[in-house]
Amino acid sequence: MPNNPSHRRPILRLALFLVCAILIFLAFNTLYSFTNTLHQLDVVEAERDRWQRPVDVLRALDLRAGNTVVDLGSGAGYFTLKLSPAVAKRGQVLAVDLRRLSLFFLWTRAVLRGQHNVHVVLGEEDNPRLPAGAVDAVLICNTYHEFRNPELMIEHIFRALRPSGRLVVVDRAPPATEGQHTHEVPLANVESELQSRGFDIVSRQDRFIDRPGDDLWWLLVARKP
Ligand SMILES: C[S@@+](CC[C@H](N)C(=O)[O-])C[C@H]1O[C@@H](n2cnc3c(N)ncnc32)[C@H](O)[C@@H]1O
Repeated sequence: MPNNPSHRRPILRLALFLVCAILIFLAFNTLYSFTNTLHQLDVVEAERDRWQRPVDVLRALDLRAGNTVVDLGSGAGYFTLKLSPAVAKRGQVLAVDLRRLSLFFLWTRAVLRGQHNVHVVLGEEDNPRLPAGAVDAVLICNTYHEFRNPELMIEHIFRALRPSGRLVVVDRAPPATEGQHTHEVPLANVESELQSRGFDIVSRQDRFIDRPGDDLWWLLVARKP
């Protein structure tokens, strides 16, 4: 009898089994790619340590235990995870980014390392959503050139910083060649934008990272009066 329900049961069971098998396969596959990406991040960052001069970037921030420091445009947390021990357990790192996935990877890495003073913040394009007057230092590495409206971002940072709070910007200088450059920003532009808002310039290094045949990076340290 083709319409007898007892004949359909084995087909339903098989279908259910196949759906479960596919779901389990997809779950394992996602978990595998996730852990693989976590591992790749560690590998890439270990290589980056050799040229990015993270120790000098942290020194420029002049952090103390208990400070609140912001990593603005944190990505998956290259600097956030280094800032965390610098402010110790009673301090905090606010890692701001627009990308939920990057923040999720960063959050996972911080949890796996027991770095509980890291807090992720989903920013808006023109608003990093920082607490007013509560921040000791802000780092913007390889991100300033991506800001759609730098003046607005600077305004938010200025309001978030405590008096004497530091802002450290690290970015790539445009190459001397003609053409459209979207992954770099001239140091002089950033310097004048910060000065216009009332920041004091503490120091600037035009050739912070200067590797033959590679991008030139600059570093700028500013201070809220
Ligand atoms: C090139 S990545 C650099 C990430 C990290 N700072 C580093 O050095 O590894 C730039 C990051 O800035 C983020 N970003 C760009 N504009 C932003 C904005 N207005 N507010 C917050 N994050 C922003 C991007 O989503 C991206 O993750």
